[in-house]
Amino acid sequence: MAGPTGDHYFSAAPKAGPRPGRVRLHLPDLDGDLSLRTDAGVFSATAIDLGTRFLLDVGARPGPDVTTVADIGCGYGPIAIATAKRAPDATVWAVDVNERALDLTRANAEAAGVGDRVRVVTPDDVPDDLVLDALWSNPPVRVGKAVLHDLLRTWLPRLVPGGSAHLVVARNLGADSLARWLADEGHPVTRRGSRRGYRLLDIASSLGP
Ligand SMILES: C[S@@+](CC[C@H](N)C(=O)[O-])C[C@H]1O[C@@H](n2cnc3c(N)ncnc32)[C@H](O)[C@@H]1O
Repeated sequence: MAGPTGDHYFSAAPKAGPRPGRVRLHLPDLDGDLSLRTDAGVFSATAIDLGTRFLLDVGARPGPDVTTVADIGCGYGPIAIATAKRAPDATVWAVDVNERALDLTRANAEAAGVGDRVRVVTPDDVPDDLVLDALWSNPPVRVGKAVLHDLLRTWLPRLVPGGSAHLVVARNLGADSLARWLADEGHPVTRRGSRRGYRLLDIASSLGP
């Protein structure tokens, strides 16, 4: 939904004046809480989104062998930064169109001690030859189906054979129809579970193991 200034959380340059804040992210498997800077004009600025929380609790568990992973639509960085903490040898690409969100992710990654391994970029700055072991995303469903499908058609083919993507999507925003579309596109998709109206979708690389 657009805010009072006509902004969306996916505006490239939000017009909303600064309203800096912080959210605390406690993950039982990590030492110490993450204190993440947020601001007006970015997604879920006052609290970790419930879908993101579900993904972090259940789905965002990088295996020991991953070296290159991505968070598509990183916002202020909760998934990218938690993933970098959980996979201490991995490079994490944190991608967003919202410049304010990207600045926050950069600052949050630096403060969390993972700034050297979190590459914070716009989609245009992603190298063409980037390949990924895994990707996580609370994707921007409010951009509309066509844009979301384009985004997934861009990112899923970057997975290595045997790689996987993990998406959290609200049921009332089309999680089940997205799962059907993914299957129709040839991606093996599993509905891993639901929590408080969100579905977690696991997608295997269509290139197989
Ligand atoms: C649902 S929010 C999730 C934000 C963050 N990962 C979180 O969990 O708090 C989706 C994000 O996708 C971003 N986005 C929109 N279009 C995008 C695109 N084409 N490529 C990458 N990110 C995009 C939005 O700006 C927004 O920050």
